[in-house]
Amino acid sequence: MNTPIQVFNSYDRQADLEAFHNTKLGVKGLADAGVSQLPRIFCHDNQSAASLISSPAAAAEEKLAGKTDAKNLTIPVIDLQDSHKNRVKIINEIKDACKNWGFFQILNHGVPLSVMKEMMAGIRRFHEQEEEMKKDLYSRDFQRKILFNTNFDLFKGVSTNWRDTLTVVVAPRGVEEEEIPEVSREAIVEYSRMVKELGDILLEYLGEGLGVGSNRLKELGCGDGMVMFCHYYPPCPQPEMTWGTTDHTDSSFLTVLLQDELGGLQVRHEDRWVDVHPIEGAFVVNMGDFMQLMSNDTFLSVNHRVLANKRGPRISVASFFRCNLAPENGLVFGPLKELRSEENPDIYRETSIKDYVAHYYHKGLNGISALEHFKL
Ligand code: OGA
Ligand code: NI
Repeated sequence: MNTPIQVFNSYDRQADLEAFHNTKLGVKGLADAGVSQLPRIFCHDNQSAASLISSPAAAAEEKLAGKTDAKNLTIPVIDLQDSHKNRVKIINEIKDACKNWGFFQILNHGVPLSVMKEMMAGIRRFHEQEEEMKKDLYSRDFQRKILFNTNFDLFKGVSTNWRDTLTVVVAPRGVEEEEIPEVSREAIVEYSRMVKELGDILLEYLGEGLGVGSNRLKELGCGDGMVMFCHYYPPCPQPEMTWGTTDHTDSSFLTVLLQDELGGLQVRHEDRWVDVHPIEGAFVVNMGDFMQLMSNDTFLSVNHRVLANKRGPRISVASFFRCNLAPENGLVFGPLKELRSEENPDIYRETSIKDYVAHYYHKGLNGISALEHFKL
């Protein structure tokens, strides 16, 4: 048998990537084969991820400069309980979070904990089922409504990430129920329906927070498209040498993330990396590039990454709200007109989702925002 390990003895990156791709087993295939040394394709250039997390010396310097230790920083947690009574407060909290962090967590959002847990269990079952079933779904054709692969940007990214992903298109014209593998079908159907509704509610808050009215973003179609990236991060033998997910911003309007209790997600804030601590029952919400573009930099699409970990698997589900990528979709988005003034001239040119996503996928995850390309 041609095991994945034998393939990586010499380093011809392109050949190694192809060999890895051809196994159709993703990173989990390597973990299952018991690799103890990370194949070269996964190794990033940085000496150590840990060194980027703030050395003691850097921390001392920051303290002198009056900066709060990154360890003591947390992204805002916003309680949506009694949303009618507390509407103004909630909107203000969301607005502040979007301006200052681009990230926040929400509690009491209406999706039951049981549904969240069952989704994570269902995604775990998918990734841990028999290999043949997954191989059948293995593809890099993102026109498909459901596909399994590893590293969507495998042949573009600077270093390969320690992560596999099941991608599911929910709307518009989402995947047919029968096409969803049975091991996770019910979980995916129920979870995606609820998160889609939550997306609309969040867009209302965001519209109000921007001062353009609660229906504006929905009417523009920001909630019409939804795609879920259901990630599986196997235990990693040398976590300091690779990434779970390379530093990036999301291409969406809005992302709603479910993560398990292992942690590892970090957000860039005032030149430091801040841990997003898992809270049971909470969703992590973040602004994507299209929200930053439409809000003309009022709301921020912030860099984030996931550390690899010796412990695992880590499961997470990122639900991206973004329009569909079908070629006939000529929808174009630019900074909202009502936000435009002499002091606030447009920063970005109008851009179609299609062009934008093409650029995003072409460049791969490299830590540089795809938005740069669309500045006026
Ligand atoms: C993403 C992402 C974070 C995570 O899929 O864009 O940032 O915790 N995921 O998996
Ligand atoms: Ni992301």
